[in-house]
Amino acid sequence: MAIIELHQQSCFDWIKEQPANSIEGVCTDPPFGIVEFLPHEMEKMRKGKGGVWRLPPTIGGSKRSPLPRFTTLTEKELAHVHYYFKEFGKCLLPVLTPGAHVFLAGTPMLQHLVQRGMADAGFEVRGAVMRLYRGFRGGDRPKLAEKEFPDLCVTPRGTYEPWMLFRKPIEERTVAINLRKWGTGALRRINTNQPLPDTLQSGKTPKIEEEISNHPTLKPQQLLRILCRSLLPMNRGTILDPFCGSGSTIAACNVLGYDSIGIEIDNIYFSTLKNNISKFSALYPQFKGDSLDVDLSQIAPKLRKIRNLQIDLLQGAADYT
Ligand SMILES: C[S@@+](CC[C@H](N)C(=O)[O-])C[C@H]1O[C@@H](n2cnc3c(N)ncnc32)[C@H](O)[C@@H]1O
Repeated sequence: MAIIELHQQSCFDWIKEQPANSIEGVCTDPPFGIVEFLPHEMEKMRKGKGGVWRLPPTIGGSKRSPLPRFTTLTEKELAHVHYYFKEFGKCLLPVLTPGAHVFLAGTPMLQHLVQRGMADAGFEVRGAVMRLYRGFRGGDRPKLAEKEFPDLCVTPRGTYEPWMLFRKPIEERTVAINLRKWGTGALRRINTNQPLPDTLQSGKTPKIEEEISNHPTLKPQQLLRILCRSLLPMNRGTILDPFCGSGSTIAACNVLGYDSIGIEIDNIYFSTLKNNISKFSALYPQFKGDSLDVDLSQIAPKLRKIRNLQIDLLQGAADYT
């Protein structure tokens, strides 16, 4: 039975208290520009007015979720992104086992600052897995001159989200020795004949998942189960999500049978975690991230069943501490 630990506090404070070499992998979706999840910006987002969160235009009568804008960050805020990830990396490094991998979601606009921060903290930069999806960012014509410049766009239309990959340097002479000693140093393949690729076709987060949580940056189970699965090459250890939001990563680990720890600072999101984790875990229980060509809509259980699911019905599915 997978063990789940949940803590409501700043992940920086929690990580600093942890013993050395005690976590085998990290999969997380941190605030990309830092400012967007500060309490005053969250308040504006919840009121639907002002701040870095913007409501994209309605398409065909359907309202879309708010998105943070990153093109408005000042030089000082950009420098802070680099500083933030350097400090994050510095407190995380000792807590991870040698060879442990870290997936950090990001945005192409700020990716270089995150990678530089983590490298400055002592991590190896191991590229990224690109989540390919049809995004709504970019591709716009020059503002207030759209008719004058119908053939131009000021940035390319976004179709990928980088999940940057880092590794704590291995401590042993070879990856093989490191794997035997610590259980980390390599990534688990999709299957014997298929390594983890660096692009993953991933649609928008399915509606059935958005019905469970209204977190504005909810990530899909399909992607998370593939990424989390790859993090424990020997099938043993604990995964940390220090910015766990709706609990989607923790649910992915739960389905895989991996022990996991989720940290979330916001009390509203924290209060919904257990319930969300049960409901996400109940979706597509047979999908364990060991295949790339899965059509989750084919195996989604009936919506009503998920809506009515009570946490106590699933008490046996996970051990919360
Ligand atoms: C981008 S969201 C993660 C969403 C998540 N991927 C999901 O699918 O639900 C980042 C989360 O980190 C939380 N957060 C921000 N700063 C934090 C900190 N210092 N410690 C812990 N959580 C933090 C925010 O409240 C937010 O819910």
